[in-house]
Amino acid sequence: MSEPTTEIVNFYEDRYSEAERLDRRPQARLERIRTLELIRDLLPATPARVLDVGGGPGAYARELVTDGHQVRLIDLVPAHVAQARAGTPTVEAVVGDARGLPEPDAAWDATLLLGPVYHLQDRADRVRAIREAIRVTRPGGPVAVAAISRFAGPIDFAATARFDDRMLAESRRLITEGENIVGGGFTHAYFHRVPELLAECAEAGLGGVVLHGVEGPAWSAAEAAVHGPAADAIFDAALRLARLYSSERDLAAASCHLLVTGTAG
Ligand SMILES: C[S@@+](CC[C@H](N)C(=O)[O-])C[C@H]1O[C@@H](n2cnc3c(N)ncnc32)[C@H](O)[C@@H]1O
Repeated sequence: MSEPTTEIVNFYEDRYSEAERLDRRPQARLERIRTLELIRDLLPATPARVLDVGGGPGAYARELVTDGHQVRLIDLVPAHVAQARAGTPTVEAVVGDARGLPEPDAAWDATLLLGPVYHLQDRADRVRAIREAIRVTRPGGPVAVAAISRFAGPIDFAATARFDDRMLAESRRLITEGENIVGGGFTHAYFHRVPELLAECAEAGLGGVVLHGVEGPAWSAAEAAVHGPAADAIFDAALRLARLYSSERDLAAASCHLLVTGTAG
């Protein structure tokens, strides 16, 4: 395993609980609701064969199994694979790397790549992971690729009253550089600008591309309001705006996560 790969495994095994992430904060709750809606819109009718690459502890895989799909999850982190297998309903899960999937060509009706692309700092690796997702999907089958917006971190720090001089300097750096500096609470990651993500998907050969902003432009308002009396009303409005503006390209980069959907060629 290369050094960054080991660091990612250590981060998730020793320093971060991914299993609870999607229930924790307004941003994450919006992410879960909207990602599931977008995936369900994308997938073929049940029962479809769905490969969930970088599926973590199985939050989405479990929902899709409950829907009646046949799902296999692949993840770099052994603890995530164990959690996916252990939950209810159980998820078929194996350890693997998105850059070299242990799957034959065209074996799956649909493939999700929701995680690996924002953990790969090398552009060639990201394109390879997207190309692998396309390779294992039957021609014409849907593929979904998630990324983190370049502006998510600074907006998050502003909305949660953590925007100090250090964060201002970091926000300035992020205007021109997408690599996360390891040690600031996250691990190896790359934060995309929209045109970069679309170019990587095009180079990998993804067809019929649609870009979605996942949490919508008001997720940070929901974060800022979380302890106030209007928290529920603002969360509800943020969710409505996320649905309304989902594929408005002008607003996509204001979301925390970007989701590109397309079809295998
Ligand atoms: C933040 S979690 C996302 C989990 C889930 N897909 C979701 O969207 O909530 C990112 C996941 O990607 C996995 N991952 C990172 N790099 C990977 C790689 N090269 N191959 C496979 N999985 C990878 C991590 O182990 C982690 O489980």
